[in-house]
Amino acid sequence: MGDAFDTATGKVAGGDGGRPDGGDRAESAPPADADARTAQDSGPSRTRRSPSPAPAQLPHDLPLFTGRQAELDDLLPPPTGAGQLAETVLISAIGGMAGVGKTVLAVHWAHQVADRFPDGQLYVNLRGFDPSGAIMEPGDAVRGFLDALGVPPERVPHGLDAQAALYRSVLAGRRFLVLLDNARDTDQVRPLLPGTPGCLTIVTSRNELSGLVAAHGARSLTLRSTPSRQRAFLVRRLGAERIAAEPGAADEITRLCAGLPLALACVAARAAVHPGFPLEAVAAELREAHGRLDAFTRSDTSADVGTVFSWSSRAVPAEAARLFRLLALHPGPDFSVPAAAALAGLPVRRVRPLLAELSGVHLVNESAPGRYAFHDLLRAHAAERSILPTRAPERSRLACAG
Ligand SMILES: Nc1ncnc2c1ncn2[C@@H]1O[C@H](COP(=O)(O)OP(=O)(O)OP(=O)(O)O)[C@@H](O)[C@H]1O
Ligand SMILES: [Mg+2]
Repeated sequence: MGDAFDTATGKVAGGDGGRPDGGDRAESAPPADADARTAQDSGPSRTRRSPSPAPAQLPHDLPLFTGRQAELDDLLPPPTGAGQLAETVLISAIGGMAGVGKTVLAVHWAHQVADRFPDGQLYVNLRGFDPSGAIMEPGDAVRGFLDALGVPPERVPHGLDAQAALYRSVLAGRRFLVLLDNARDTDQVRPLLPGTPGCLTIVTSRNELSGLVAAHGARSLTLRSTPSRQRAFLVRRLGAERIAAEPGAADEITRLCAGLPLALACVAARAAVHPGFPLEAVAAELREAHGRLDAFTRSDTSADVGTVFSWSSRAVPAEAARLFRLLALHPGPDFSVPAAAALAGLPVRRVRPLLAELSGVHLVNESAPGRYAFHDLLRAHAAERSILPTRAPERSRLACAG
C-alpha cells in the first residue's frame, strides 16, 4: 500500500474510509507530546503505509450531562452545508467564568452532530489558561492536526503560515468538525480555522475573542452559571428522592457552590460516595468551611469555589490529600500513574487507590485509561495549598516524574 498523502492536492487518500469504531482521545497528540500518542500512531512506518482512519478525537461525552437545553436549542441545527461558509461557533462565559461548563457543552454538542461530519472530528485542548502557563503554541496544534490527518512528518513544511496553509488544503472540500478547546485568544485560534465551506469549528474560551466574531463571523454563545437550574444537576447526581427529602439543604449547597457546575460536581461526588450522609450535614460542613478558610483571591465566585475545593480536599484521607497537592507540581496537562507514583515517592500499587479516591470525589479526572488530569481551577487550588516546592526530596522526585 502506498503513501496515504498526496502532496499535489494536499489530500489524504483513504481518509474518508469510514469512522474508526473507538479510540477517542482526551487530547490531540501534537508531536511535542510523544507521551500522549496512541499506539496506533506510534510506529512511523505503519502510519505512513496504511491509509489514515478518519480522526475521531472528541473526548468522551459526559454521561451525567444535565441541562443547557436552551443553549443546545440555540446551537442546533448546525447550518453547515454545501455552498455555505465554513462556520465557527464560539462558546464563552459571562465575566470569563471558569468551570461553568463551556468544554462540557461543546463536547456534548459535538457528539450530537458528529455524524454530519463524516471526514472526521479533530480536537485539541489549547490550554489557554493552564495555571502552569504551558499554553499550547498554535504551531504545535497545527502539526498535531496534520499528524492526525495522516500527513507524514517529512511533508510538513517549515513555518506556521505554510503549515496552516497545508492544514487548510487538507480540509478543503471535506466535512470536518474541529473543536478548539480552552483557547486563550484569537491569534492562537486563527491558524486552526478551516478555510472552506463544509467544516464546523467550535471554539471554547474564557475570553470573549471579539476578533473571532468581528473578523471571522463566528456565532457567539455566552454561558452563565444558573443557580436556579442547578436543582436538576443535583437530582441527576444524587437522585430525586434524596433531593426531595432535603430541598432546603440542596438549595443551600447550590448557593454555597455559587451555582458553579465544577464546584457542585465536587460536592455531589462526595455526597454520592456517602449515600447515608444527610445533605444537611454536607451543607453544614460547607457553611463552616466558608467561615473558616482564606478566600481564594480573584472574585467572589472564586472565593466561594475555593472554599468548596478546600472542603473537598480535606475530606479525603491524608495520603490522598497529600498526593493531590503534590500533583499540582507536575508539569503538563495530564499525567500517568507511574508519574504520580514518582512524584509521591510511593509504589504504583499504593498510588492507584489514592488516584481512584481523588477521582471518586472529582478532584482529578481519569482523562484516558491510566491517565489523569486536573481541571485548571482545581490544579490552581492544589498548587496554592502545596507546601512542597521548597522541600528537596519532592523537588528531585518532580524532576524525575514523566
Ligand atoms: N451541563 C453539565 N452537566 C453536568 N456537569 C457539568 C455540566 N457543565 C459542567 N459540568 C461539570 O463542571 C465541570 C467543569 O466544566 P467545564 O470543564 O466544561 O468548564 P469550563 O467552563 O470549560 O471551564 P474552563 O474555563 O476552566 O475551561 C465538569 O467537569 C463537570 O463536572
Ligand atoms: Mg474548558
